[in-house]
Amino acid sequence: MSHPIDPDISRSMTLPSRYYTQEESHQSILSGFGECWHFAAHRSQLKGVKSIPLDHMEGIVGEAMALTDSGKLRCLSNVCTHRGMILITEPSNSSSIRCGYHGRTFGLDGRFRNMPEFEGVEGFPSDKDDLVEFPIKEWKGLVFSGTSPSRFDSVFDHLEERIGWMPIEDFQHDESRHRSYEIDANWALYVDNYLEGFHIPFVHGDLHESLDYDSYSTELFDGGVLQIGIANDSEDIFELPESSPDFGERVAAYYYWIYPGLMLNFYPWGLSVNLVIPISVSKTRIVYHGFVWDESKLGKGAGGDLDKVEGEDQEIVEATQRGVSSGSYDRGRYSTTKEKGVHHFHRMIFDGK
Ligand code: FES
Ligand SMILES: [Fe+2]
Repeated sequence: MSHPIDPDISRSMTLPSRYYTQEESHQSILSGFGECWHFAAHRSQLKGVKSIPLDHMEGIVGEAMALTDSGKLRCLSNVCTHRGMILITEPSNSSSIRCGYHGRTFGLDGRFRNMPEFEGVEGFPSDKDDLVEFPIKEWKGLVFSGTSPSRFDSVFDHLEERIGWMPIEDFQHDESRHRSYEIDANWALYVDNYLEGFHIPFVHGDLHESLDYDSYSTELFDGGVLQIGIANDSEDIFELPESSPDFGERVAAYYYWIYPGLMLNFYPWGLSVNLVIPISVSKTRIVYHGFVWDESKLGKGAGGDLDKVEGEDQEIVEATQRGVSSGSYDRGRYSTTKEKGVHHFHRMIFDGK
């Protein structure tokens, strides 16, 4: 594939519209997702249970997966090795996995245990009857997996250096902050919108009031983009330790995006994880998970009313999907000051292809 995005933002044109509207172009991007690490869960989602399904992985990497904890955390294929039934459909405390179709059971380590009515089957059981295990990486309670992740390992070093001081492993999953939205737009339009604060004064009136627009910053790194929201004087900010590279700044939010569709939004109250899950070329699911650090800070500052901001963004993104589907539009140009993150994302789509 030739690289359609010029490395020089001042010369470059934006992503050609076919990537947002045509099945084949859309699929050519998705085919690279297997090489990336994807958010699986936060440790606190496994509190009190031994296994959880990872439904979002199916949309992202095309594999049904589950996370199991038997003292050791594992990411397993969630597909029965008999005739392909999905195994785990809800969080479970059981110390084995039992298929609901014909009763085959597996250990939490994925090893085949037993199966009724299989006496006399030759060469059975074999390794092939065990569940496939996928690679796993854990950073401060955030668990990542993928089918064959090899790209962007340095993302974790970047996170460690910048926000490694936060006790992220102690944050607690808050079920009441869970959201799932289906939007009529291509996944990449949702990411484009996330990667610039350019639209904040136009689209998000209330958020604009809590942030200092001129100090909003965007940093690019291999595998992602970090945007930092600086608070207007009265708003809630992080109490940064001296070890933080941002010590002395009025940071209201760290907005991390990690290729392709993971958003880690850190606020003084905790973390909002947004997962961007392609459903089809023009449909996307957005899933929110909330992990609370300091309850007393909920509802305040830049991370205050996330539902309102989300609704405002969705309306824009859906209208943009209709726009890029028009025969009179193909590509635009980037603002060199405000759209560096979008340009970086579009470059990454084709890097290594
Ligand atoms: S598909 Fe699982 S036991 Fe038959
Ligand atoms: Fe927005």
